[in-house]
Amino acid sequence: MTHIAIFASGAGSNAREIIRYFRGVEDIIVSLIVTNRPDAGVIEVARDAGIPVLLLEKERFFRGDGYIKELKTNGIDLIVLAGFLWKVPPSLIENFKDLIINIHPALLPKFGGKGMFGIHVHEAVINAGEKESGITIHLVDEQYDHGKTIFQARIPVSASDTPFTLAEKIHKLEHGHYPAVIEDFIQKSKRG
Ligand code: GRF
Repeated sequence: MTHIAIFASGAGSNAREIIRYFRGVEDIIVSLIVTNRPDAGVIEVARDAGIPVLLLEKERFFRGDGYIKELKTNGIDLIVLAGFLWKVPPSLIENFKDLIINIHPALLPKFGGKGMFGIHVHEAVINAGEKESGITIHLVDEQYDHGKTIFQARIPVSASDTPFTLAEKIHKLEHGHYPAVIEDFIQKSKRG
């Protein structure tokens, strides 16, 4: 059995889709939700699904590593970031080497890095006059939105798109792809 921990700071719509998807997969389970915000929508998603939540305060996340032990003793094999807004500290990356995945709502390496999250990304895409945007699923390293790309999907940006309509399309694209890409990543790493 592969155990996934999802890290999320926001609404948790990707978390919800991932949880739903793996309900139908025998040997993979989402067994923990980690968040840094006591008011994050993802907490309700976890509650609805009966999945435990670990709430991390800043100090504990960036200075301590007690929670890493907790992840290990809970048997977590893979960390999936789904709208997690803190930079992942080196201690976590070392302990989960090539086992942390992120989704970014644009075609990296464009429109990534510090400050490029949520609606800011789509604003930047539209202001740059891009003809297409998309999603990037990648491994996490010490730099924001930087690790090896695992998967990209593209959609056209139309002249009538606003940052909000584009955000909605991108969200749908994420929901449609992220769970299956995670499954594929796990199956491939099992085969070595
Ligand atoms: C997604 O667009 C994801 O790409 C980004 O944060 C957003 C999270 O949305 N990293 P949600 O909380 O899953 O609805």
